Amino acid sequence: MRLEPIRPDHADAVQRLARDPLVTAMTNLPEPYPEGGAAWWIADLLPRREAGREYVFALRVEDGDVAGVVGLADVEGAGGAAELGYWVGVPYWGRGYATSACVMAVDFAFGWLGLAEVNAYPLRENAASRRVLEKAGFRLEGIIPNKYPKWSPERSLAHYRITRAEWS
Ligand SMILES: CC(C)(COP(=O)(O)OP(=O)(O)OC[C@H]1O[C@@H](n2cnc3c(N)ncnc32)[C@H](O)[C@@H]1OP(=O)(O)O)[C@@H](O)C(=O)NCCC(=O)NCCS
Repeated sequence: MRLEPIRPDHADAVQRLARDPLVTAMTNLPEPYPEGGAAWWIADLLPRREAGREYVFALRVEDGDVAGVVGLADVEGAGGAAELGYWVGVPYWGRGYATSACVMAVDFAFGWLGLAEVNAYPLRENAASRRVLEKAGFRLEGIIPNKYPKWSPERSLAHYRITRAEWS
């Protein structure tokens, strides 16, 4: 598997996979996922990549399919932090793709961007995502109240972090 900086020709695959309720339920993606949502999202984020604030990649797997996405958002620049997010399309679950993608994104964050830490905030009950983070070397910092507008404040997030020193 390799990571490709996301671009407009990834939109069809992203649209097809992202509209599955099993994917939207556990992510910040809108529900239901709107028609044309992927093309709009990719166009919208390109200026943030130009500004060095957000880096999103498509997961290109062995058979040539796009299987999901991984990204670093709220990138603060060298010495700062960023937030990791990811999802994998349902047909591709359970093959280690999310773990590999997170490891590659973390390598990019520390090795290329020079960040000091990467954080991730899966829903507390998202056991598969929490397992991915643990396999990728993240440590549980604590359980915190939800901070995303998509869900009510009663929901809880599991805050995971990896620092540059831990990555080294
Ligand atoms: C979570 C998600 C990214 C995992 O993708 P994936 O490519 O299947 O992940 P991997 O194959 O790398 O690893 C999954 C791990 O979770 C484990 N797992 C799967 N379902 C689980 C469950 N219900 N409870 C506990 N562990 C679970 C798997 O066994 C595997 O661990 P193992 O290698 O020790 O056996 C994918 O299911 C997904 O996109 N879900 C919907 C969106 C989402 O949750 N995104 C993350 C938002 S924070």
